Amino acid sequence: SPGLHRRVDDHLEKYLSQKPKSIDGSQDNMFPTEIVNNNIANTGPFEQKESLPKNKAVSDDTLFRRSMQLSMEQQAWQKSSEGQKMLEFRRSLPAYKEKDAISNSISKNQVVIISGETGCGKTTQVPQFILESEINSMRGATCSIICTQPRRISAMSVSERIVIERGEKLGENVGYKVRLEGMKGKNTRLLFCTSGVLLRRLLVDRDLKGVTHIIMDEVHERGIDEDFLLTVMKELLPCRPELRLVLMSATINAEIFSSYFNGAPVIQIPGITHPVRTYFLENILESTGYSLTADNQIDDYGQVWKLNKQTSNKRKSHIASSVEEALGSADYSEYSQQTQDSLLCWNPNCINFNLIEYLLCNICENGKPGGILVFMTGWDDIISLKEKLQAHSVLGDPNRVLLLTCHGSMSSSEQRLIFEKVDDGVRKIVLATNIAETSITIDDLVFVIDCGKAKEASYDALNNTPCLLPSWISKVSAKQRRGRSGRVQPGECYHLYPQCVYDSFADFQLPKILRTPLQSLCLQIKSLNLGSISGFLSRALQSPDSLAVQNAVEYLKLIGALDEKENLTILGGYLAMLPMEPKHGKMLVMGAFLNCLDPILTIVAGLTVRDPFLAPLEIKELAEAAKAQFSHGFSDHLALVRAYNGWKVAERKRIGHKYCWKNFLSPQSMKAIDSLRREFQSVLKSIRLIDNKASSYNTYCYDENLVRAVICSGLYPGVCSVVHKDNSLSLKTMEDGQVSLHSKSVNARDFKIPYPWLVFNKKVKVNSVYLQDSTAVSDSTLLLFGGSISIGDVEGHMKMMGGYFEFFMEPSIAITYRTLKRELNELFQTK
Ligand code: CDP
Ligand code: MG
Repeated sequence: SPGLHRRVDDHLEKYLSQKPKSIDGSQDNMFPTEIVNNNIANTGPFEQKESLPKNKAVSDDTLFRRSMQLSMEQQAWQKSSEGQKMLEFRRSLPAYKEKDAISNSISKNQVVIISGETGCGKTTQVPQFILESEINSMRGATCSIICTQPRRISAMSVSERIVIERGEKLGENVGYKVRLEGMKGKNTRLLFCTSGVLLRRLLVDRDLKGVTHIIMDEVHERGIDEDFLLTVMKELLPCRPELRLVLMSATINAEIFSSYFNGAPVIQIPGITHPVRTYFLENILESTGYSLTADNQIDDYGQVWKLNKQTSNKRKSHIASSVEEALGSADYSEYSQQTQDSLLCWNPNCINFNLIEYLLCNICENGKPGGILVFMTGWDDIISLKEKLQAHSVLGDPNRVLLLTCHGSMSSSEQRLIFEKVDDGVRKIVLATNIAETSITIDDLVFVIDCGKAKEASYDALNNTPCLLPSWISKVSAKQRRGRSGRVQPGECYHLYPQCVYDSFADFQLPKILRTPLQSLCLQIKSLNLGSISGFLSRALQSPDSLAVQNAVEYLKLIGALDEKENLTILGGYLAMLPMEPKHGKMLVMGAFLNCLDPILTIVAGLTVRDPFLAPLEIKELAEAAKAQFSHGFSDHLALVRAYNGWKVAERKRIGHKYCWKNFLSPQSMKAIDSLRREFQSVLKSIRLIDNKASSYNTYCYDENLVRAVICSGLYPGVCSVVHKDNSLSLKTMEDGQVSLHSKSVNARDFKIPYPWLVFNKKVKVNSVYLQDSTAVSDSTLLLFGGSISIGDVEGHMKMMGGYFEFFMEPSIAITYRTLKRELNELFQTK
């Protein structure tokens, strides 16, 4: 297109700088108007042109009356029989017994740390204590308490719970605000939000004017947003002597927070815990006539554990044969030839669904009454296990078992079910992620089954490769999981791994800031004007590795979010406002800029949710063939667009489910993509990258090569070179050398990719490096859209880009281009 004769970057820069400057949250009325700051500091790259609504002048008298009214309403509710019952319940919680100590300490100290066992009442009670003490001291109408939660789901469920405890309605005194969703009103005094929402508020309101209390819940989790907030708060507190900070944590390592905040007091809430009988894998097997021994043989799958039949003449019990069946999972077949002596194996790299089923069944038939909580690694294996159990004669019988799931993306109706009491004779089984470890407390549990793993993002700074693989949990997590069973009465916990594996667990989980890529964090630091990235991070609770910081800064420069001097570019400013990874943000920005947003919305949403293309092991071939039908233009991303568009049509005809079934697509993922698309669209609107006229930003959405270019602009430098050798492909990336395509990728089926490059979103390191998804791109696309050359190197960039364009016209420059291409190729070859 002739429009491309100038640098893509120049165009993008011009485009972005012409956009009206606005930040999500100001229009959105993210916080009650009274507490929104109206003197916004000019932070980030934008001048804030529009000012926010002016504070309403409210007289002291009105405030006094409002405060009185608040306390009277509360007293009236407490007198009702329902209110009495609720108050009684609240008073029974360990936290309630510390109410005065907590209130006093908060009034005397700027920072207070509260630690206590999960379920003791920190999350639901402490914010209420503060609210009530403010109301009692007649400051109820002016206080503004913000309580952060690491997850959307807890922000929503806690606020819902608190209004029930107070006999109020959500959105009045108590509300919540999570990304793009919220229930809050003008008079909201206690607001639950995610840490991310508070961080974005800091973008427009550096001093948190009007906020009286910040409560940060679950700080022990050490999420990246939380660690970042802590560092920001530490710098903010001296400027805001009236502001109070309360940190709440499970009984893990509270001292580290206290010493970070100059010896702030720690209030320890004593908990009530019942004894828990603990079984490791060998104990589970003990009564069965089998024993477990580690085989020294290490193969691709890690260490193999032999399950040996004991020589004693103990008659093989009923359980023994079940265990034989239970452990003889699909993975076993892989070993059956190699391990002659051992009957069966335990593979530490797989969760054994059969064993879980066996244990559940055993508890249901022989165990005392009480709910069962099963810790799985993630949403996908929760769903697979659920499907398996539903087909079981006992566990799938709704008259005997109430089978529930508990994970970060469950609906609020699903959530409510978890807390509900079950009828006598029915057993509640909850399949959960580690969300049930500390943030959600289910009361009637007596049994815990722990797979010992969690899907944790980890990051290998040396190879600059993020991995999202299930990994062993820490000892602290195992203890937390165990503790879930002994809350109401003595419990039982089954760890599905041997004790020696437990002994090798790390004591604590590494904080996220030390094990994830820091790109988003670095952008935030820049957009909050917090000075140099490395300087700021050196003042964090625990500073990340300097190599990881360097990688992140280099990356941000490469994609054009930071300039040579580490200043935020205009693009970077936009990326900081988008609540997603910078590469996905950049794709959306470019999609809007080049007016082909629709497919890009689908692609980014698709990369955010669980892979919608299902590949059940038994029928992998069929599933892959189904995906291949959508294959188009050598791109998994374009295949997804086709699958989604087809689903959309089917959905309108009300046959969406059938469509998914036929094409091996996950209906849940499709629905999630659908709603994420809408979410992204409203974010883009709120930062005014697009307006309300969909037709204007979708003009070129059928231009496949343009969409390919946008994909490339986002995914660069995730590039691998494609070289054809005889009848096979040789794929290489700069960091890893030889790589392979995941068998699910449409490109894995075709060895004739007519493009020299593949861009990819995700690579996973298992034994070798696999690219999970890819889109083929041409030299020109890569040259034009791959990354951005910083302002400091305009000359070099012009040479590169200009050289390419003029290639068509002037033979002399064609040589430049060829040299360049050869250099690029060589670069890839040598690595
Ligand atoms: O934050 P912490 O783990 O200390 O406890 P919490 O979340 O404040 O919960 C305290 C108690 O409130 C729990 O033990 C539950 O009995 C109850 N609760 C409930 O019944 N329903 C909820 N949605 C949340 C809590
Ligand atoms: Mg809590």
